[in-house]
Amino acid sequence: MRIVCIGGGPAGLYFALLMKKQNPAHEISVVERNRPYDTFGWGVVFSDATMEAMRAWDPESAAEIEDAFNHWDDIEVWFKGTRQRTSGHGFVGIGRKKLLNILQRRCEALGVELVFETEVASDLDYADADLIIASDGFNSKIRNRYQGVFEPDLVTRPNRYIWLGTNKLYDAFTFDFRKTDHGWFQAHIYKFDDKTSTFIVETTEDAYEKHGLGQMDQQGSIDFCQDLFSEVLDGAELMTNARHLRGSAWLNFNRLICGKWSHFNGRSHVVLMGDAAHTAHFAIGSGTKLAIDDAIELTNQFNRHGHAKEQIPAVLEDYEEIRRVDVARIQNAARNAMEWFEVVGRRYADTLPPEQFMYSMLTRSQRISHENLRLRDKAWLEGYERWFAGQAGVEPSADGRVPPPMFTPYTMRGVTLKNRIVMSPMAMYSAKDGVLDDFHLVHLGARALGGAGLVFGEMTCVSPDARITPGCLGLWNEKQAEGWKRFVDFVHGNSTAKVGIQLGHAGRKGATKLAWEGIDQPLQTGDWPLISASALPYLKNSQVPKAMDRADMDRVKADFVRATELAVTTGTDWLELHCAHGYLLSSFLSPLTNRRTDEYGGSHENRARYPLEIFNAIRAVWPEDKPISVRLSCHDWFEGGNTPEDAAIFAQMFKDAGADMIDCSSGQVWKEEKPVYGRLFQTPFSDKIRNEVGIPTIAVGAISEADHANSVIAAGRADLCAVARPHLADPAWVLHEAARIGLTDVAWPKQYYSGKQQYETNLARAAAAK
Ligand SMILES: Cc1cc2nc3c(=O)[nH]c(=O)nc-3n(C[C@H](O)[C@H](O)[C@H](O)COP(=O)(O)OP(=O)(O)OC[C@H]3O[C@@H](n4cnc5c(N)ncnc54)[C@H](O)[C@@H]3O)c2cc1C
Ligand SMILES: Cc1cc2nc3c(=O)[nH]c(=O)nc-3n(C[C@H](O)[C@H](O)[C@H](O)COP(=O)(O)O)c2cc1C
Repeated sequence: MRIVCIGGGPAGLYFALLMKKQNPAHEISVVERNRPYDTFGWGVVFSDATMEAMRAWDPESAAEIEDAFNHWDDIEVWFKGTRQRTSGHGFVGIGRKKLLNILQRRCEALGVELVFETEVASDLDYADADLIIASDGFNSKIRNRYQGVFEPDLVTRPNRYIWLGTNKLYDAFTFDFRKTDHGWFQAHIYKFDDKTSTFIVETTEDAYEKHGLGQMDQQGSIDFCQDLFSEVLDGAELMTNARHLRGSAWLNFNRLICGKWSHFNGRSHVVLMGDAAHTAHFAIGSGTKLAIDDAIELTNQFNRHGHAKEQIPAVLEDYEEIRRVDVARIQNAARNAMEWFEVVGRRYADTLPPEQFMYSMLTRSQRISHENLRLRDKAWLEGYERWFAGQAGVEPSADGRVPPPMFTPYTMRGVTLKNRIVMSPMAMYSAKDGVLDDFHLVHLGARALGGAGLVFGEMTCVSPDARITPGCLGLWNEKQAEGWKRFVDFVHGNSTAKVGIQLGHAGRKGATKLAWEGIDQPLQTGDWPLISASALPYLKNSQVPKAMDRADMDRVKADFVRATELAVTTGTDWLELHCAHGYLLSSFLSPLTNRRTDEYGGSHENRARYPLEIFNAIRAVWPEDKPISVRLSCHDWFEGGNTPEDAAIFAQMFKDAGADMIDCSSGQVWKEEKPVYGRLFQTPFSDKIRNEVGIPTIAVGAISEADHANSVIAAGRADLCAVARPHLADPAWVLHEAARIGLTDVAWPKQYYSGKQQYETNLARAAAAK
């Protein structure tokens, strides 16, 4: 085959050498506009995993690259006068020039034709090529020629960065955070050869503007950074090697992904590779890794299908399919890490103590978890656990041990939870006339015995017409209060858990069948009239609710107050006001469901007016020493609906009204919603609200392991974690998770003690057998 790689960066060179090596009969050229030793940039970072793949595919170049590597394990964070360091992170750095020179030499040795100082105008210039690799980087001319085919999706990120170097050598991947009058700046610093370190400085657009960096020339920016980071530079100078760039050289990162990666131009097949196809932010340093992995996979597909031009279409199809998945994974992790640096100034730097700031930074991509940090640097993690436990008032045991973050106690007002796990409210549709009876006693009681610090009953409805289904729990009469009290007394008498009640009103989602008879489907018989913020049915076949008038509002407010007063008589410890999931109060908050033109619709203030009225009314009758949390849908997952920005505004309003916590859920407001699920998928909302609004939060949603909960709580992304479905699968989820992470000094119910020992022994045996 005749193959032309347009662009001699890591992607083009590595693919050329791999293909030539697999089949020397291929005629391969790499055409590069720069001279061999001319290149923009400093050092690039690899992970150990990429290196392993390179060793397998071409040991010769891998050996040379490894020789030139600077390997380091430590991360050091400079922040507010502290220097904190952890180990075990395993990076390798190499100068970009060095890397390219090794690949160039290897290409030449294998017989690849290298053509330098040639700017390629079009893929059509290589009419004889069977395959053209568009490895011409982020600004790819070839990709841009066929925008309609490749469908590039480009997002310009808000932060500014400048890529500098210094001759000071750092023995750790160093991050330095500095506050100025106009906001925070951070430096990402790593050594890549025996003379030089990369020094990337990043800040927000706002700070960049206010410091006038846009008007400065490169030297002006260098002087500014040198001054700001003088302590970490310790007299060393910063340098640029991008003098060819006009203006200030502060860039915005562009996140790119293409809808399609290959195209037949009438003569040759053209395929995108590396930065031409996708980008990954330097916050996790994986752009070069992705380029190398692309080159490996395309070669691999030729090996699978055969090195013949007839196979090219099938090869390109499989290449794209496989690489797309990996790229999405890396871009996802890079996005979390990148966003952390975008919000660090307004979210973390002024709020988190240095120890927690460091933990939050290390886990910024959310791919590194608590247990993962333990594997990397046990001593550091244990030190952090001691610090965290100390904050929660826990003294180390005689042998210096402390519980991990999720097993530390938490106090709100006069209520202390023994641990940070909440059994999330879950409707069971099994009540008669709203009364909590044997099913609920056994179901909820088992979860209380199972170790959760706080056990919520399901959404408990404040009047008969506030119910979702005829099977929902209610609290509008004495008999229901007696049922609740029986449950509360059982929990208080037989466990150390606390009990929470979630009060709600179904609104437009009421009068539906039991979940297993048709979720959200309207009752055929025995239904009741519905009310909501506006007269919009939930489903096409749902009843049209009445838009509430003032008299309705007064009646429902009185219902909430009566339910709260009844809850007080039951000894319940915690109250949650349900303002999520499209039910009555949520229908006021969302612009999708609230179309009112009076003082209860329109602005945030108006939409929150009625939910806040209810909150104030129940706060007034709920005991001073007991907390109230508010559950919000922090994202409607639908255009025109509430976003996390809106949720933060509402959270601030509830905070000002005296709410103790925000329980950060999402969705179920609008039937056509398009939620993006995944591990911990709602935790970013909790993180934002906790650290931007400054109110404690409960995170919920796909938290299914102790490791998840520990990571979320330790990083200060939430104060409590609510766990729902895992508690349906396993009433003793908390006790079992404790055992799984080797925590044996968690109390089981005294009646179950012999089960505890056996369970722990079996787990230990299984682990040893592995
Ligand atoms: C600040 C910053 C820090 C980074 N840090 C890291 C890091 O630590 N680790 C990491 O892995 N990655 C890092 N990257 C990303 C990395 O530089 C790229 O992702 C990687 O180089 C992609 O390789 P590539 O071969 O696809 O493209 P490139 O390396 O961009 O190569 C494209 C080549 O094509 C040439 N070219 C373009 N157009 C033409 C044309 N018309 N004719 C001829 N030649 C042409 C260019 O001159 C260039 O040599 C960083 C990027 C930035 C901006
Ligand atoms: C069967 C079931 C019933 C639920 N009922 C309620 C409820 O009454 N009130 C509420 O706020 N959320 C309710 N939810 C949502 C959960 O509290 C929780 O937010 C959601 O399931 C995500 O957590 P998970 O991933 O741990 O399951 C319910 C969830 C399930 C699975």
